Amino acid sequence: KPLKFVTLLGSLRKASYNGMVARTLPKVAPEGVTIEALPSIGTLPLYDADIQQEEGFPADLDAIAEQIRQADGVIIVTPEYNYSVPGGLKNAIDWISRLPNQPLAGKPVLIQTSSMGPVGGARCQYHLRQILVFLDAMVMNKPEFMGGVIQNKVDEHTGEVTDQGTLDFLKSQLTAFADYTHRVSK
Ligand code: FNR
Repeated sequence: KPLKFVTLLGSLRKASYNGMVARTLPKVAPEGVTIEALPSIGTLPLYDADIQQEEGFPADLDAIAEQIRQADGVIIVTPEYNYSVPGGLKNAIDWISRLPNQPLAGKPVLIQTSSMGPVGGARCQYHLRQILVFLDAMVMNKPEFMGGVIQNKVDEHTGEVTDQGTLDFLKSQLTAFADYTHRVSK
């Protein structure tokens, strides 16, 4: 069965290295797998139960949720901020968690972190996993992608990953995620 994955980007800046990783994924996707970017999470207001009660869920959140529902799996591509999950990404997850028929429940999820530091956002990965426990997401355990010193593995002009070892690893991880998705999906 062909699979469709969507990428959820945890960085908001235009020249984001994680954005470059996300942009590269369709090019290293295995046969039968398509990968599309979700809309930016940058337009979501800070979560406020009063907004939810008085105005309902933001339209941009509904759009993100609908695309997650239609996807076979979600790939979260994010930097690490202060050894943890960037606030913007946590905010998006907080909004998603309040939706009726919450779309990450039972959904296969892959985490990818990249940073300018040597450990590639490793410390963020375990905080993000813990958060996703409450949402009942089906996060794949291994293999893990931590893109360390990512600034040396991309071409800033094309905005894509160019390091061959990284490209090979991303391809094998996506193949593993496709297998995992087939295995855990109903
Ligand atoms: C960072 N950065 C960072 N890097 C890291 O490896 N561990 C960390 O804890 C942090 N903390 C952190 C906090 C804040 C507020 C910022 C802005 C940055 C550096 C980070 O890896 C770098 O800025 C990346 O380029 C961010 O990813 P994007 O935006 O390029 O995708």
